[in-house]
Amino acid sequence: MSADARQSVAVGVTGASGAFYATRTVAALLSRGLHVELVVSDYGRRLLRDELGEGASVERFVPFLAEKYGPGVGAGTLTLHGNRDMGATIASGSHGCVGMAIVPCSMKTLAGVAHGLSRNLVERAADVMLKERRRLVIVPRETPMSLPQLKNMVLCAEAGAMILPAMPAFYQRPTSLDDLADFMAGKILSALGFEHDLYPPWTGQV
Ligand SMILES: Cc1cc2nc3c(=O)[nH]c(=O)nc-3n(C[C@H](O)[C@H](O)[C@H](O)COP(=O)(O)O)c2cc1C
Repeated sequence: MSADARQSVAVGVTGASGAFYATRTVAALLSRGLHVELVVSDYGRRLLRDELGEGASVERFVPFLAEKYGPGVGAGTLTLHGNRDMGATIASGSHGCVGMAIVPCSMKTLAGVAHGLSRNLVERAADVMLKERRRLVIVPRETPMSLPQLKNMVLCAEAGAMILPAMPAFYQRPTSLDDLADFMAGKILSALGFEHDLYPPWTGQV
């Protein structure tokens, strides 16, 4: 299938802790046969390497995903955009991108989205999602949070974004970091409107 015939989803990766939530989410989207429009901030690139090792550098992102999550990621396609490229497809509302996740989302990028600053492609693409009334899923990670940070989440929620904090649950009895990443990625796919089997549905008891 050509990239043009696929549904396209944007993923922004910024410099907050939790890079493995990003890799799991992108792998799950690719495994569903989607086209992922990936944009990674400078600190997002650093956090990918710091938390997951040199092998997870953006330059070899898809091979890293295939090694870690299996060859199923080959069902999808991926375009990597530069964060300074305001001429990228996802910078325009005319591009038919169905939604966007910012995972993880730094407090700086959260502030930029909350105030419509569009200083870079992550922020511009998020602004496009809001103005076009498409799904925008923001996965903030910071603790504790200041009042301005909390207010920025409210502003984004009021503008139509879903705030989906990096807060995995434990009733699924996770036994590994990958279990936690699966849970968060599953929540993100659900919020974007995609089915998945990243965690079993709650049955009413543990
Ligand atoms: C190792 C490391 C961990 C960081 N973790 C966080 C974090 O969890 N949350 C956050 O908001 N910022 C965190 N930061 C700070 C951001 O990376 C910094 O504010 C950066 O300017 C964000 O830019 P970006 O949103 O364009 O990626 C971290 C920085 C480093 C170097």
